[in-house]
Amino acid sequence: MREQQQHIRAEVTDIGSTFKQEIQKLFQTMEKMADRSRALEQKYKMAMEDRKKLHNMVLDLKGNIRVFVRVRPINSKEKPHEPEGEPTINFKDDINIGVYDGQHSRRKFFEFDQVFPPTTSQIQVFEEAKPLATSTLDGYNVCIFAYGQTGSGKTHTMTGTGEDPGLNTRVLRELFRIRDERRNEYDIQISIAITEIYNEAIRDLLNPDGKDKLDVRINPDGTCGVPGLTETPVSNVDDVLKCIGDASKNRATSTTDMNEQSSRSHSIVTVRTKCTLKGSDTYIGKIHLIDLAGSENTNKSGVTGQGMKEAQNINKSLSALGDVIQSLVGKSSHTPYRNSKLTMMLKDSLGGDSKTLMIVCVSPAQFNVTESLSALNFASRARNVELGKAKRNVASNN
Ligand SMILES: Nc1ncnc2c1ncn2[C@@H]1O[C@H](COP(=O)(O)OP(=O)(O)OP(=O)(O)O)[C@@H](O)[C@H]1O
Ligand SMILES: [Mg+2]
Repeated sequence: MREQQQHIRAEVTDIGSTFKQEIQKLFQTMEKMADRSRALEQKYKMAMEDRKKLHNMVLDLKGNIRVFVRVRPINSKEKPHEPEGEPTINFKDDINIGVYDGQHSRRKFFEFDQVFPPTTSQIQVFEEAKPLATSTLDGYNVCIFAYGQTGSGKTHTMTGTGEDPGLNTRVLRELFRIRDERRNEYDIQISIAITEIYNEAIRDLLNPDGKDKLDVRINPDGTCGVPGLTETPVSNVDDVLKCIGDASKNRATSTTDMNEQSSRSHSIVTVRTKCTLKGSDTYIGKIHLIDLAGSENTNKSGVTGQGMKEAQNINKSLSALGDVIQSLVGKSSHTPYRNSKLTMMLKDSLGGDSKTLMIVCVSPAQFNVTESLSALNFASRARNVELGKAKRNVASNN
């Protein structure tokens, strides 16, 4: 009996140590696999980075309008109506997006330069836009505009909130950071102007009580500007925040059925930079940061009276923007910039010599799928625009 017990104990101990060895082997194999997967992930990331760099070089050479898409989180009004099953929006990777149209049981796929899912932070959006924005300091004309249906997240993307600001503040903060970094070699001056286009009239949001009627002047050399517009020199982020705060108090907004704080005008923050390499050339750059008023279906937004007039003006100028883009895609000899104040203001930033980024904001809800498809179709066309290689504006001091 005792012998039997000893035998069993020995067998159990044996099994135990074999088991331990096997577990150890398993752990080692798992660790190796995890290492391999980390290495592969790293390689994939590097390949994606390389792809992005090459892609950006091609875009720079051809002068394409870059297009990013940002899908906002679903809101509490939309959520209860969202059908089960097929998700309205799906993401294959960071450049491909699919949109499911429930009425026609059809999914359409689009490719853009960057696609941001609803979890994307303001910082992540900024990081992707940063290289383009900061090329202003090298003497380029840059234009970043948020486009999309009402309530899709344009103001959130461009202005954001005090605690979590959008592109406007982050771009300016970055310009100051670079100014400080280049302090020994360059003198850099930065100024800001903030305008809105409301019912086809230009308003100076840094001087809302100004008596002069403002208009866009297109100069013989193709550049454009608004004579009489307030341009405030800014030397730090606090100066900028003050300007942006003053301006947003003066901006026309109202509540519609689609958005509690709907922008009823196009807002344009224009930053001019003068960057002088000490004792040498000066690079003159300009960046327009634009929060467009949203295109809207007046049946859905429920506007009447003044609201209806605003909506008509908004839709008219957006359609003028569409015509300009269409004409640039077709490389036609005449581009109809003069059809709206918006396109006139953007003439030297939406045509040759400039770098343009369009951020299309999209709602994730089936309720808005028609508008989402229309915005993405427009953006796909815009992505085909080839402006030619952007040029730096250099004023030689020699
Ligand atoms: N990415 C996001 N994350 C969290 N909330 C968002 C996001 N995008 C938009 N929102 C919220 O959705 C609402 C509508 O957004 P926003 O006002 O930016 O729309 P809009 O496109 O500017 O509309 P309009 O054309 O009517 O001015 C706001 O309450 C905003 O805070
Ligand atoms: Mg808005």
